[in-house]
Amino acid sequence: QELQLNIEQIEKGGYDHFMLKEIYEQPSVIKDTYRGRLLANEGIIKLGGLEDHIQKFVNANRIIIVACGTSWHAGLVAEYIFEDWARIPVEVEYASEFRYRNPIITEKDVVIAISQSGETADTLAAIKLAKQKGAFVYGVCNVVGSSISRETHSGTYTHAGPEIGVASTKAFTTQITVLTMIALKLAKVKGTISQANYMQHLRELELIPSHVEEALKSDEKIRAIADVFKDASNFLYLGRGYNFPVALEGALKLKEISYIHAEGYPAAEMKHGPIALIDEHMPVVVIAVNSNHYEKVVSNIEEIKARKGKIIAVVTEGDTTVKELADFIMEVPKTTETLSPLVTTIPLQLLSYYIAVMLNRNVDQPRNLAKSVTVE
Ligand code: G6P
Repeated sequence: QELQLNIEQIEKGGYDHFMLKEIYEQPSVIKDTYRGRLLANEGIIKLGGLEDHIQKFVNANRIIIVACGTSWHAGLVAEYIFEDWARIPVEVEYASEFRYRNPIITEKDVVIAISQSGETADTLAAIKLAKQKGAFVYGVCNVVGSSISRETHSGTYTHAGPEIGVASTKAFTTQITVLTMIALKLAKVKGTISQANYMQHLRELELIPSHVEEALKSDEKIRAIADVFKDASNFLYLGRGYNFPVALEGALKLKEISYIHAEGYPAAEMKHGPIALIDEHMPVVVIAVNSNHYEKVVSNIEEIKARKGKIIAVVTEGDTTVKELADFIMEVPKTTETLSPLVTTIPLQLLSYYIAVMLNRNVDQPRNLAKSVTVE
């Protein structure tokens, strides 16, 4: 047993939990994911699985993304990116809903299945259905040789390495990295992105590992914030645009490992319900980085403040407006709005991690949850 323990400690590489190790691995695994595929200076993206079938995507009527859990959140981010750059209509579906509702699928549809494990039963069933109906099915999986990677017509692997913690972290950011490269490649081929925007994003994507590294430096500060809020019974997470899915993911992380009830919401929808819950006991995590929605998010923050809610804001380094209004801030480096989910998600991972640790939860194996859900 002692030997077993030692092996586990070695596997954790000096970190207390796999989850923390995996959070900290993100700068290097994001790099692994784009290595050899993204040649920023040359303006080239090479994705073998995509290039062999590029016409399927170019001629697609729409893209349907199927996934579960955190992978579904990566799909939501991809919806914004694909529609903006590649101008292809995208629908994002929970695999479990999609498979049972007699969906309309044609040969002109491309289905993208996103799955860390490549074994999720509902996602697997959804792609089998899509294949039967004649759609082209593309996989974005982490586990090489997994069932979903074998069942799809083609695909791109994330190179996140083994993810042991049940709460997904590095799988999420590497999925977004792959999906961003796919969107950029398609936009380039279709001519729906300007050359300047294309080149800027290749370069920005290459900078993401160092931005994530920078975001991780707030670790101590985030731990202090966790200490203030660990006893709250509810949390609200708000974001808009590209960062709306990040709000959902932040809330999911907290629920999964700390067992605190948390809800993610599009910031502007707050007034249609969640605002009724806000009082001095409600911490509200707001993603308020530089974006087209910045001013609007600032007004949302003011509305929360007026109702005495406690504001924890994720802001761009150097921000002054939100800093004045928020109770606590978590800074992230500046990147483009499109790529911002890759950095804004980092402090939210750390926040949920530290809260769970402080509450003595089983961080890597939370109760009732499984790493890969191979049954319905
Ligand atoms: C389970 C895991 C989640 C994961 C989801 C989808 O619920 O606990 O972390 O996001 O399944 O898994 P997949 O392997 O398909 O990405």
